[in-house]
Amino acid sequence: MTLHTLFPTRLAAGPLQRAGAATLNRQLLKECQQLRADDAAGRRWSKKNYPGGYTSYASSHRLHLMSPTFEVLRDKLRRHVEGFASALEWNLGKRDLEMTDCWININGRHVGHGLHLHPLSTLSGTYYVQVPSGSPGIKFEDPRLDRFMAAPPRRAHAHRDNQPWVTLPAVAGHFVLFESWLRHEVVPNPVSAERVSVSFNYNWF
Ligand code: NI
Repeated sequence: MTLHTLFPTRLAAGPLQRAGAATLNRQLLKECQQLRADDAAGRRWSKKNYPGGYTSYASSHRLHLMSPTFEVLRDKLRRHVEGFASALEWNLGKRDLEMTDCWININGRHVGHGLHLHPLSTLSGTYYVQVPSGSPGIKFEDPRLDRFMAAPPRRAHAHRDNQPWVTLPAVAGHFVLFESWLRHEVVPNPVSAERVSVSFNYNWF
């Protein structure tokens, strides 16, 4: 018989650039820490909605339009986003895939981010600025899970393609791209050093 693989869920991950990650990340880290220090509204919002951590999601979420450093990040992501769109064979017509939101996340010890998707967006992703050893990656959920009903569980050591949850590691200087409907989470950071990432959404205009 022939085994067919239909309707795959594709994600893309890899280094943002061949060289220069350390320099870019140093500058991004400095700006992330400065933003947290300056952003009282964001700290208040985070206290309620992102306990123990800081996110600029609700306060400064267009950083690619506010900071030349984040603009550089957006420009360097462009070819990867285009490559991903091409791998998905999206027919974008004359409309552009544009970054609409770009915000930062700082997770200290025990800070995570529960299962969620990014409604009203087309493509989402994260770039890792600082990833202390032992801090978590990003965990993705099989989007068909709510239809499985009487489907048997998978063997503990099933091939990755057949696992209901897969974690991609967070690597400083690397990005992860996924379609915005794909549910994901970041499990709580078990180490005391801060994990710093930049998340972003694209939409199709
Ligand atoms: Ni997310």
